[in-house]
Amino acid sequence: MTAIAGQPRERRALLEAAGISKRFAGLQAVGGSEGLSFDVFAGEFVGLIGPNGAGKSTTFDLLSGVLRSDSGAVTFDGRDVTEADPHMHARYGIGRTFQTPRSFESMTVLQNVVAGATNPGERLGAAFGRKWRGGERSATDAAKRILTRVGLADRASAPVSDLSGGELRMLEVARQLIRKPTLLLLDEPTAGVHPGLQDRLAALLRDIHREGMTLLVVEHNLHFLLALADHILVLAEGELIAQGTPADIRVDPVVVSAYLGSDSAA
Ligand SMILES: Nc1ncnc2c1ncn2[C@@H]1O[C@H](COP(=O)(O)OP(=O)(O)O)[C@@H](O)[C@H]1O
Ligand SMILES: [Mg+2]
Repeated sequence: MTAIAGQPRERRALLEAAGISKRFAGLQAVGGSEGLSFDVFAGEFVGLIGPNGAGKSTTFDLLSGVLRSDSGAVTFDGRDVTEADPHMHARYGIGRTFQTPRSFESMTVLQNVVAGATNPGERLGAAFGRKWRGGERSATDAAKRILTRVGLADRASAPVSDLSGGELRMLEVARQLIRKPTLLLLDEPTAGVHPGLQDRLAALLRDIHREGMTLLVVEHNLHFLLALADHILVLAEGELIAQGTPADIRVDPVVVSAYLGSDSAA
C-alpha cells in the first residue's frame, strides 16, 4: 500500500456528501433512511465498492449533477453544488466517466479529446470554436499528449467506431484528463478493458494521483482497486456499511459477509 494508508484522514474535505439520497418509483436507490454521508479529502484516492445495484452509479449521478438529490447537500471545494447542473460541475473541476462510455461517434479519437477540452458540458454543438486556455500551444497538442499517456496515440486519427470497448473507456478517461479536473470520478474504469490496458490504466491512475488529482473510483475489480486506493467506502443497498483503508476492508467482518464473501478478491 501507499505510505498514506494507516494515517488519520485529517485533511481538508474536497467533496462532502451530507445526507444525500435518491428514490426511483418507490425504490430507495441511495441513502437508506438517513441519507448517505461521506467525505473525499483533497489529494486522496478513494474507492467506492459494493454489490450490483448498491447505488454506486446513482451516487455518481448525484455528485456530478446528472441527478438531483432528494435530500441533503453536496459541497465541493467549499461550494454548495447540490443544485448545480453537470455543465457547472465540470466547470468547478469535477470530471466523471460513465459506466457506459459516451463519445462523439462521428469524430476521430483525437477530435473527441479536443472536444473534451473545449466542451465541459458535453454538448456537441458547443464543442467547436471555444477558446483553449490550457498550457499547451493548442488543444490539439494537449490532446495528443494525453492520448500518448492513455496508450491511444496510434489510434488518434481512427474513427471512434473502430475502437474496442476497452479503448473507448480509455478515451473517456482521456477526455476528462484534458480538462485537468480537481476531482475525477471513474465508474468501473476496468470493465471490458483487457489486462495489458488495465496495467496501463493502473499506472496512469497512480501517476495522476501522485500529481495531486483527487480520485473517486467505482470498481468491481477489487484486486485493481485495493492496490491503488488510500481509502475505501463500502455501499450496500444505498447505505455506507463500512469504510477504511484497503487493509481494514479486507478483514472487516461486515464487508466480508455482506460483500466480499468467501472468495474474496482481496
Ligand atoms: N434511472 C433509474 N430508474 C429506476 N431505477 C434505477 C435507475 N437508475 C438506477 N436504478 C436502480 O437503482 C438501484 C441502484 O442502481 P445503480 O446506482 O446503478 O447501482 P450500482 O451502480 O451500484 O450497480 C438499482 O436497483 C437500479 O435498478
Ligand atoms: Mg453502476
